[in-house]
Amino acid sequence: MAEPLLEFRDVRAGYGDAVVLDGVSLVLPANGSLALLGRNGVGKTTLLLTAMGFVRLMRGSIFLDGKDISKLAPHKRARLGLGWVPQERDIFPSLSVEENLTVAARPGRWDVGAVYGLFPRLKERRTNMGNQLSGGEQQMLTIARTLMTNPSVLLLDEPLEGLAPIIVEELTAAVKKMAEDEGIALVLVEQHAQVALGLTKDAVIIERGEIMHRAPSADLLNDSGTLDRYLGLKLGGG
Ligand SMILES: Nc1ncnc2c1ncn2[C@@H]1O[C@H](COP(=O)(O)OP(=O)(O)O)[C@@H](O)[C@H]1O
Ligand SMILES: [Mg+2]
Repeated sequence: MAEPLLEFRDVRAGYGDAVVLDGVSLVLPANGSLALLGRNGVGKTTLLLTAMGFVRLMRGSIFLDGKDISKLAPHKRARLGLGWVPQERDIFPSLSVEENLTVAARPGRWDVGAVYGLFPRLKERRTNMGNQLSGGEQQMLTIARTLMTNPSVLLLDEPLEGLAPIIVEELTAAVKKMAEDEGIALVLVEQHAQVALGLTKDAVIIERGEIMHRAPSADLLNDSGTLDRYLGLKLGGG
């Protein structure tokens, strides 16, 4: 089996004394893509924040490319290859689209040209200032900036949340390309389970801070009982 790229081993984490995640173990292989599903408040964002080092790790460990990163500061984890895309858009409003990209750049195959290939809309907007973009375009730029750091793993926190349908379509296509054609390893937190399952190879469902179910995404997509039980998702058809 391929070496895991990102691995959680028996992780307990939370805020202050409050335990939010407990006994969480998961493996993301190189070229893997993992959907992280669960109702509101179950700990999905906390899991990504724990990977980045923003949340207190109380037990267990986290490995990136075989290296124990559990005690490293967030910026060191980023430098080692964790590319975090927060739920809030994170761009420089008074820099142009292209400047937003170039200030984030680190050497690797993802340069401005490659990123524009994935996000043609950003190329059209290259000279616009960050604050002239729509919310959806800012979200695209947030992802594109993270890609410019040439991460080995992308952690995406509800990237489609609250976006207009046309942008959702473009972003979905870009994520699909990243995962399937470019082989970028990614963890995708998403409320829209069906969309997330269509974009990823594997999926886990979290409930109250624990992983309750794991399956290949294609299998889970057809498992209406499990989707209903943990996500309250009623799929039509039967
Ligand atoms: N900064 C914080 N301090 C204390 N508790 C928090 C904080 N952020 C989140 N929580 C709690 O942790 C739990 C999981 O939250 P979160 O990871 O944001 O869930 P999700 O992303 O799945 O909606 C919730 O009960 C939430 O209230
Ligand atoms: Mg969240």
